[in-house]
Amino acid sequence: MIHNSYLDNRCPTMSNTLQSVIAQTLPFEDQKPGTSGLRKKVRVFMQKNYTENFIQCIFDALGDKLKGSTLVVGGDGRYFSKPAINTIIRIASANEVSKLIIGQLGILSTPAVSALIREHKVLGGIVLTASHNPGGIRNDFGIKYNIENGGPAPDNITNSIYELSTKITQYKTTPTLETDRLIDILGTSKFNVDGRQFTVEIIDSTTNYVNLMKQIFDFNKLRALIRGTDQRPAFNVLLDSMNGVTGVYVRNIFVEELGASPDNNVRRVVPLDNFGEIHPDPNLTYAKDLVDKLKEDSNYDFGAAFDGDGDRNMILGKNAFFVTPSDSLAVLANNLECIPYFKKNGVNGFARSMPTAAAVDRVAAKLGKEIFEVPTGWKYFGNLMDAGRLSLCGEESFGTGSDHIREKDGIWAVLAWLSVIEHKQMGVEEILKEHWTLYGRNYFTRYDYEECETEGANKMINRLEGFIADGGLVGKAYTALGKTYKVAKADNFSYVDPIDNSVAKNQGIRILFEDGSRLIYRLSGTGSSGATIRVYIECYEKEDVLTDAQVMLKPLVEIGLEISQLKEFTGRNQPTVIT
Ligand code: G1P
Ligand code: ZN
Repeated sequence: MIHNSYLDNRCPTMSNTLQSVIAQTLPFEDQKPGTSGLRKKVRVFMQKNYTENFIQCIFDALGDKLKGSTLVVGGDGRYFSKPAINTIIRIASANEVSKLIIGQLGILSTPAVSALIREHKVLGGIVLTASHNPGGIRNDFGIKYNIENGGPAPDNITNSIYELSTKITQYKTTPTLETDRLIDILGTSKFNVDGRQFTVEIIDSTTNYVNLMKQIFDFNKLRALIRGTDQRPAFNVLLDSMNGVTGVYVRNIFVEELGASPDNNVRRVVPLDNFGEIHPDPNLTYAKDLVDKLKEDSNYDFGAAFDGDGDRNMILGKNAFFVTPSDSLAVLANNLECIPYFKKNGVNGFARSMPTAAAVDRVAAKLGKEIFEVPTGWKYFGNLMDAGRLSLCGEESFGTGSDHIREKDGIWAVLAWLSVIEHKQMGVEEILKEHWTLYGRNYFTRYDYEECETEGANKMINRLEGFIADGGLVGKAYTALGKTYKVAKADNFSYVDPIDNSVAKNQGIRILFEDGSRLIYRLSGTGSSGATIRVYIECYEKEDVLTDAQVMLKPLVEIGLEISQLKEFTGRNQPTVIT
């Protein structure tokens, strides 16, 4: 009692002592985190104890570090976010977490969570999102744990969360902790749980992130670009938040700070819990609406779209000129000196995920920088950044980012692109053409076959693995549409982290041809049902840099389908999405 009254004196707003309880539960078999956290249909998370189990397993995986810790919590606001956050609050309070920092209404973009973890130097964060997967009651929800560097938990932690989830028998919670409307209003609430103080701080979703962007970029120059000056007309942008979480950041940064027009320069900037029934993924298929707008209205100089949780970006120029994410990475790498953050901190190495086209490798070679090729998934970049070896990295899946945080960052990418445009005083297409003339062009496309039957997809991959095991592909020549490619090497990509020597095996089947062209096959690790097959196709041309990518890559696509017999194994004649 003495202890309680001591706390009560210090915290006048603190309510009476609450008691935690132990609830009995049974394991679920399907709580294995994928490429980026646990993603399932909302109805799966709604099952009794499903969300509770997973949260308890995250906490158990953290061990003693959890006691007295602070965690950041927030997400893209998709359907089921609020009940999930309330569950996290109750379970955290009972597991001796000392404080939760939560975005108002549960809203924080994935990059904003990463930034907050780093800013407050806390143990980690829980991100509630299924990223670019559709939301709403019939669609997806997700839970991801980020560690103290602000990045996604590495494999050893996600593996241990999964292990625990197969054995869990009980979780701790404080059922009497009143969470009703707790996350709606800014401010700090203190509770006394089992005689300990437990604090919930509800913060503005944008303040910390906007301040970080102001430190990184020259907002005066960007404002002059967007508003125009006496000497130059306004550079006319159209930013599409696709009803996702970036809406609040776009309004704050681009409209309020940089003077963009709320009517003409931004669209779909109110986050909706079902993303307005669209697929909030910024690519040519799902952001077709934006592509069409730019094609119809040649007054626009630039377009960009973001995904549901704000870590992905797509960059378009006038008339919807498309910049592949692999090229986007290379162009930024080539121009970083115009961004104040890099001027101040210098530029360490570059990195890309394995399937990402190798355009950035050429920039690294020219600039004399280290280049790393890591498996798919942002978590593999973190160690390199922490060790001071990596400044800029990206993935072909519309992810670009730097070591300012440990997640990819859609808004950062657009601000970086606008900085390059402002510095060079050139349009997007001109910048790309100049880049290709200097470096040659890595043509790239990705074919996605979404929600295939698992059995057929696995058989296809197993057969390819068989070819690798027996060395049968090497030396073989394949011809399609008059072009011949000879296999130089075939393997299943394996990565040894240069910092901690951890090994990630079986990260994608690679068929490497003698001229440097590549075919890569992977099964997605982010889908919530069935199997999604991704086929990545790349070739390099030194001189012929202006051909349409789909035309240039057609022969390799055909060869890729022939080698894998994808149509036979999946029954699919067409991919669901081509990027
Ligand atoms: C996909 C992308 C990958 C990205 C991840 C999370 O994973 O391919 O690059 O890091 O989403 O945004 P996949 O579904 O391929 O496992
Ligand atoms: Zn995302």
